[in-house]
Amino acid sequence: MNRTQVAIIGGGPAGTLLSHILRRHGVESVVLERRSKEYVLGRIRAGVLEQGSADILREYGLGDRMDREGQAHDGVYLAYRGGRFRVDFRELAGSSVMIYGQTQVQKDLYDVVDAEGGVIIDEVEDVRLHGLTDDRPAVTYVRQGVEQRMECDFVAGCDGSHGVSSSSIPDIVTYERNYPFGWLGILSETPPIAEELIYANHPRGFALCSMRNPMLSRYYVQCDIDADVSDWSDDRFWEELAARLPDDAVTSLVTGPSIDKSITPLRSSVAEPMSHGRLFLAGDAAHIVPPTGAKGLNLAISDVVYLSRALVDFYASGATRALDAYSDTALARVWKAVRFSWWMTTLMHRFEEDGSFGPKVQEAELEYLSESPAARTAMAENYIGLPL
Ligand code: FAD
Ligand code: PHB
Repeated sequence: MNRTQVAIIGGGPAGTLLSHILRRHGVESVVLERRSKEYVLGRIRAGVLEQGSADILREYGLGDRMDREGQAHDGVYLAYRGGRFRVDFRELAGSSVMIYGQTQVQKDLYDVVDAEGGVIIDEVEDVRLHGLTDDRPAVTYVRQGVEQRMECDFVAGCDGSHGVSSSSIPDIVTYERNYPFGWLGILSETPPIAEELIYANHPRGFALCSMRNPMLSRYYVQCDIDADVSDWSDDRFWEELAARLPDDAVTSLVTGPSIDKSITPLRSSVAEPMSHGRLFLAGDAAHIVPPTGAKGLNLAISDVVYLSRALVDFYASGATRALDAYSDTALARVWKAVRFSWWMTTLMHRFEEDGSFGPKVQEAELEYLSESPAARTAMAENYIGLPL
């Protein structure tokens, strides 16, 4: 039989960062991850870190490579009607974001957990949670065909949107919106089209130009919800992307073979409450946002900050006040990011059901943003991240 203080389900960014922060404060944990380490480290996902997320990573010794290899961006471009304008984060909100791939954040986290003797048990199956409303909860799981039991004081459910933790909360209520489209994304070893990200609203659908480094670009186009990656050759992708971007940008587009291509459906979803007895949810296990606002990874980090503070408080003093307040504290920030992600999604995508009215309202709002520093400030404040 095994025992730890905090059993963490899921070794994505939320679970591994929680484990690392807790260890730095002298609290023990074990991370149970369903996939292999190679699989987790190979996943290509987010690219934008809020200033507050980057600061947390620095505070916990994870900033060196990020500051060397990442790129601080002071703004983004919004494109529509064949032109584009810039939202200047530094001027409007006094800060910037960090372009540094989730793949790299995840690698830095696994490296530091390994270096500092943290425990990540991978390839576990059939994780089950027990006794969450007792003083002594436990987690059982199967590894290499053998059932194991881990006793603990608390369980952190960091197992993403397809995990088991949220289903252990009996009266959980889910608030959801499914968008009628997805994003087709590619990664290519080509120089990025521009020095900053371009979010484009176009009659053919949304497009996003992002990047990982000076020789690695990440591009997305809005696609049908039932689109099949195999119908999208690289040539078709590049043609579609170019058709949706302003002419002055297209002249700088460098195309090349894709090294990754995948489709993500877009949805917003929040589960309440985020705790039950001794179980606490963090990250995608509790909420999903469409990637348009670049908020998912950042919310996983802010949840972990609140949860780690509450757990450290408990182990230091026995106080449960912050743990009791965790769900409300986290949800207050989550909902603001859900709102912002929904707003950007609604502003930038083509919604068939909106007919000809929808695009007119979007263009009016984009024009207003281009003309009004107040409107751009509201966007900038949310994009760089609300205070933690
Ligand atoms: P996950 O990363 O999903 O990790 C959960 C882990 O739990 C996984 O490793 C999984 O294998 C494991 N697990 C699941 N079930 C079990 C189980 N039963 N037992 C044990 N382990 C289990 N966010 C941003 O902030 N900025 C962006 O720019 C951005 N862009 C994105 C672009 C795309 C295309 C996508 C798909 C997402 C993007 N996101 C972005 C969102 C971001 O990637 C997620 O919000 C983030 O991965 C959440 O981290 P997490 O640790 O909560 O969940
Ligand atoms: C990315 O680089 O993958 C990315 C950037 C911004 C977003 C979403 C994804 O809004």
